[in-house]
Amino acid sequence: MSQQPVYFCAMQKAAPIGVFDSGYGGLTVLKEIVKKLPEYDYLYLGDNARAPYGNRSFDTVYLYTLQCVKWFFENGCTLVILACNTASAKALRTIQQNDLPQIDPDKRVLGVIRPTAEILGTFSETNSVGILATNGTVASESYPMETAKFFPDLKVYQEACPMWVPLVEANEHTGRGADYFVKKNLENIFEAGEDIDVILLACTHYPLLREKIEEYLPVGVKLVSQGEIVAESLADYLARHPEMEARCSKGGKRVFFTTDSTQDFDNHAATFYGETISSHHADLGL
Ligand code: DGL
Repeated sequence: MSQQPVYFCAMQKAAPIGVFDSGYGGLTVLKEIVKKLPEYDYLYLGDNARAPYGNRSFDTVYLYTLQCVKWFFENGCTLVILACNTASAKALRTIQQNDLPQIDPDKRVLGVIRPTAEILGTFSETNSVGILATNGTVASESYPMETAKFFPDLKVYQEACPMWVPLVEANEHTGRGADYFVKKNLENIFEAGEDIDVILLACTHYPLLREKIEEYLPVGVKLVSQGEIVAESLADYLARHPEMEARCSKGGKRVFFTTDSTQDFDNHAATFYGETISSHHADLGL
């Protein structure tokens, strides 16, 4: 990894909370976190240069995510949220179990799948939920495995939607091309699970397709996205871990980095974050 000036001093006692995504999607999660916990500082990194992660192998997603997690640590962060389902599914466990003990046992990396799985079953009256996600998240079986720990009788149906992220990235999520894929994937999942009454958008890009999804959603089915769930869960985590909370700086500062063009990031980011952003380039030596 190439040397570059760090944005926050790694020696500071308290540092911003790191929020990571393969690209823009994590901004939909950060937006809700900031709403819930505005007093903290946040450092966002989008690995846009290597996004999307959704169709990449386990090894590749793990290596990319680890590299980005190390970048947060070099910038002083002690708490990093993987606001990306694909990275949470394919990299989080190995980072928590194998890498963190060696890098620094006092640092923490949290994901978005566990907090979602902890609550998902409570939304369903038919005890049947549908998960829409990337190929990688679906193949990892993380959602069926995690939800089974909290809701052993919950029926979990999954549908990979590999075209949805490219549609959002290409700003085509409101266009007619999106109708074809949204309709097709929703038909598939409801064909598999007729009694599904909750659909989880288990990819941080998908909230941008919400209006389109609602057009094709059977009446009475609830649409759940993760931003608020993750924000609630982070607030709860900080309340239960005062030692970590004390290491998160407060000043309401938000700083955004991308591994790709800052101009492109700034042009697209507002769609996800709801506010104009002025980003910096993160040099991971790519
Ligand atoms: N943001 C990622 C997620 O939540 C999807 C985007 C990608 O494929 O990189 O899974």
